[in-house]
Amino acid sequence: MDKNRIIVFDTTLRDGEQSPGCSMNTDEKIKIAFQLEKLGVDVIEAGFAAASPGDFDAVSQIAQSIKNSSICSLSRAIDNDIKQSGLAVQAAKLKRIHTFIATSPIHMKYKLKMNEAEVIKRAVHAVQYARTFVDDVEFSLEDAGRSDMSFMKEVMDAVIEAGASTINLPDTVGYRLPNELGAMVKELVAYANSRAIISVHNHNDLGLATANTLECVLNGARQIEVTLNGLGERAGNSALEEAVMAIKTRQDIFKGLYTGINTVEIYPSSRLIATITGVEPQQNKAIVGKNAFSHESGIHQDGMLKNKETYEIMRPEDVGVFKESTLILGKHSGRAAFRDKINNLGFDTVTDTELNAAFDRFKILADKKKEITDDDIRMLITDESLNQDQTYELIDLQISDCTNGFPMAAISIKHNGDILKDANIGSGTMDAIFKTIDRLTGFSGKLEDYKVTSVSEGKDALAKVITRVSFDEKSPSIVGHGLSIDTMLATAKAYLGAVNSYVSQKERLKPKNTHQI
Ligand code: KIV
Ligand code: ZN
Repeated sequence: MDKNRIIVFDTTLRDGEQSPGCSMNTDEKIKIAFQLEKLGVDVIEAGFAAASPGDFDAVSQIAQSIKNSSICSLSRAIDNDIKQSGLAVQAAKLKRIHTFIATSPIHMKYKLKMNEAEVIKRAVHAVQYARTFVDDVEFSLEDAGRSDMSFMKEVMDAVIEAGASTINLPDTVGYRLPNELGAMVKELVAYANSRAIISVHNHNDLGLATANTLECVLNGARQIEVTLNGLGERAGNSALEEAVMAIKTRQDIFKGLYTGINTVEIYPSSRLIATITGVEPQQNKAIVGKNAFSHESGIHQDGMLKNKETYEIMRPEDVGVFKESTLILGKHSGRAAFRDKINNLGFDTVTDTELNAAFDRFKILADKKKEITDDDIRMLITDESLNQDQTYELIDLQISDCTNGFPMAAISIKHNGDILKDANIGSGTMDAIFKTIDRLTGFSGKLEDYKVTSVSEGKDALAKVITRVSFDEKSPSIVGHGLSIDTMLATAKAYLGAVNSYVSQKERLKPKNTHQI
């Protein structure tokens, strides 16, 4: 292993999914996994297989689909967790089990109610058992940031001896400052003495996650655990885009250290996550925020015109942020120009069916909207790929009387070849739409979140609606996506999209009865 190579372990699909409101279904996770593979991450932590049948399904589907990144599943140091992880990653070309137990005094005393000897025994057993499924086992000392140094060394000796090849040192509660973690990592890297790769996993509770990660790298950590857009439990994790670009941009400090990340895929990856989860990075978020490369003040703009390096330390193109291209599409543009445009926008894996459907929608849009921007086209393609499941297809929506009378929605839906029609009044137009869809489909959803954003500028801008809907207590809430010039039409599509995702997830998880009695 090259000592200058930093292994990028992406945990967007596991720790990132633990962000409130960020749960994703299997199809969405598979899409993200393909993008992570294209981004060049070394390890994809695809989930926590034992957490639910949905999580198991997602990890195993990803394991079957991805070829170039290693697929990892998280497990507590409990046999059943490890077994589920082992089974879920079984089909992967490259596979890893990640198991953990807390090592800090506070976690051992109050959470685990175990003493040090018991923790070591459990850790050793977990690693040995994980090794019966895979060769590559990572062990995490949860809350390492608040653990005792001499105990960590004992745990490390024991789990390395048991077969762990990566030792992860999470600052689980985001408590440490860079100099403290740097010193901790330095001592443990020297102690490991090349018997295992030292990894770090930093949380952002004090806004220091990336600073901590970088200091750990400078002190010998060779794996960084990160998420796109910095998603993750509470204040999130160290952001992949920040850590990777800092290493790349500050080679004067990181002297020859490098990652395998294809940085032009950073922005497309960030957009995909934001679109799927409905959680936008803050506008001033480093690298991927809307304002990350915009210059507002006159002095800055003047400097930029004279020499971009006056105010830009990275080229936007290097992280996949491209300025609006000059090839403008309109209603006379043909399929070839459309295909060319989407290839230039980086959608090189779009299938013919997706392309044709998006082209039809582009033509309808071009009739209504004068200028079709790159963002409009990006959104048409992404929306098409997120809404392929059309168990229930919206055919028609009519709404009336939103001012003084009873807001009403009349809706037609296609289901199994039949056209179903119904109408309902509601306390508002949206309420009327949701009630009518509930009655037509027979599913009663609880709306947990609703967001509407405009894709581009102008009164004729496309509206992008995201609904987060809960259908039953046992399953995580489901995100639906809707896109239209008409906000209410986008709303109906988004709600129906959530119903379709719910139905397909249920279908996928149904026990398959292969033996007829
Ligand atoms: O923050 C943490 O400690 C974790 C571990 C499970 C690696 O996410
Ligand atoms: Zn974590």
